[in-house]
Amino acid sequence: MATQDDLKRMAAEKAVDFVPEGEYIGIGTGSTVNYFIKALAVSGKKIKGAVSTSAKTRALMAEYGIPEVELGDVSRLAVYVDGADEINHTLQMIKGGGAAHLPEKIVASASDLFICIADESKYVTRLGKFPLPVEVVPMARSLVSRQLVALGGEPELRLGCQTEHGNLIVDVHGLDLSKPLTMEETINNIPGVVENGIFARNAADILILGRPTGAEVIKIR
Ligand code: 5RP
Repeated sequence: MATQDDLKRMAAEKAVDFVPEGEYIGIGTGSTVNYFIKALAVSGKKIKGAVSTSAKTRALMAEYGIPEVELGDVSRLAVYVDGADEINHTLQMIKGGGAAHLPEKIVASASDLFICIADESKYVTRLGKFPLPVEVVPMARSLVSRQLVALGGEPELRLGCQTEHGNLIVDVHGLDLSKPLTMEETINNIPGVVENGIFARNAADILILGRPTGAEVIKIR
């Protein structure tokens, strides 16, 4: 029987088909993306370079010989490949389980095509079972937490976690995410919030889902 890791690997390997040679791309963070980095290297496809979204991704790219480029040195990226913690049927996502959703959203916004790779357990009819990661400036932690309670959530500080930008992560349980775009904007308007893990404005263009029957490509736009 295929394990969750097998399904992640299947989705990641299929994503290599969507990488154009001779272009710059963006690469997200997480265990599914790690399979993508390995598959891209094994494929022998030649890209100009990739913008990474975390130290872990950067290190694995270096190990597999994928050239790194800084976001500031390129104008657009042809493709962005990343995982998700949850993704709904309109390809809106919750991300940030790996505390990297800030750079991930930045790099996604600079890319012409967002390809989400995930095992089928991440595909949901409604976002919100996975607690929403919110990156918060340390001095505003209590203030922001009170506002998140006012929005109907139960914030919980992610212990021992400091983001690569020196901030904290508050994971918010129980929020009503039936209107993801509205909630994404509402939370980002709280002073002290740096970025939250709802990707509604930057929804994926293509989802590659690892299923026991193979990799399924879902494109709705
Ligand atoms: C990191 C993320 C990841 O994409 C998300 O947590 C999924 O991770 P994995 O591929 O390990 O299941 O958003 O911030």
